[in-house]
Amino acid sequence: MSSKVYINGDFIDSELAKISVFDRGFLFSDSVYEVVHVDTNKLFLFEEHLIRLRRSLCELKIQEPQVDFLKICKELLLLNPIDYGGIYIQVTRGEQKQRSHFWNNKNLTPNLIAFAQAGMRPESKALKAITYPDLRWGRCDIKSTSLLANVLAREEAALKSADEALLINLEGFVNEGSSTNVFIFKKGKVYTPPLSENILAGVTRNFCIETLKEMGIICLEQKILKEDLFLAEEVWITSSTKDVLPIGYIDDQDLNFKAPNSLWEKLYEKFKQRKIKALN
Ligand code: PDD
Repeated sequence: MSSKVYINGDFIDSELAKISVFDRGFLFSDSVYEVVHVDTNKLFLFEEHLIRLRRSLCELKIQEPQVDFLKICKELLLLNPIDYGGIYIQVTRGEQKQRSHFWNNKNLTPNLIAFAQAGMRPESKALKAITYPDLRWGRCDIKSTSLLANVLAREEAALKSADEALLINLEGFVNEGSSTNVFIFKKGKVYTPPLSENILAGVTRNFCIETLKEMGIICLEQKILKEDLFLAEEVWITSSTKDVLPIGYIDDQDLNFKAPNSLWEKLYEKFKQRKIKALN
């Protein structure tokens, strides 16, 4: 069944939506994106995603399309209702008639596409992860579509029947997952790597930190060593497609995660209560 997608002002059948082969997003990954989470056909934390999209565009000096992003997302959900999933918004620097690495500060016309994609509502079961070297560039705070190192890491995880790859830097610290942020719980406190140019400032990460605060649990934004993953009582990942989920195995090592009585269970209950209120 074909879906309706948004492309540069129009909502059309996905089969009919076309972008030039000279688009810089296609030729150079010169583009950014956002995934706005959808639950019961409603948007979750739309404003936070819009702020991050604007920041990514600004950092890369890509012109911001002058459109009503909220209206586009709402229209997509009318055309393609989804129970659980996301709206993907992608903006490329635009088409350049002659392929060239540089664009000479010319204001190219950005291409904007958006589509709704249904996903599986996460099951409350512990996931498997692998550790993998972080091979990415130095500006992972920008949500660029240059995701080659992320997708290779995630593919390696899939080949090992795991759900996520946790990316470890050269000094042995955990940056984040291939498409998630990471938290650990140890001796009564929660830790998550601090914001830097090495990780994405996850919207769900922030929501999780706020939720923990409301629960009166200390959450410290501190560096986490790879070894800490195995010493922690609990390891969680967060993202707009996963909410917050526990990790039960890393590199085939059993972390002995027990859902009943875990902090994760309490956190997820509170997270879901707060989430319902934030949907619109
Ligand atoms: N990924 N880190 C990376 C590298 C990500 O790609 C993502 C999101 C996150 C979590 O961010 P947020 O909580 O704002 O979704 C962290 C999306 C879901 C994706 O690429 O599909």
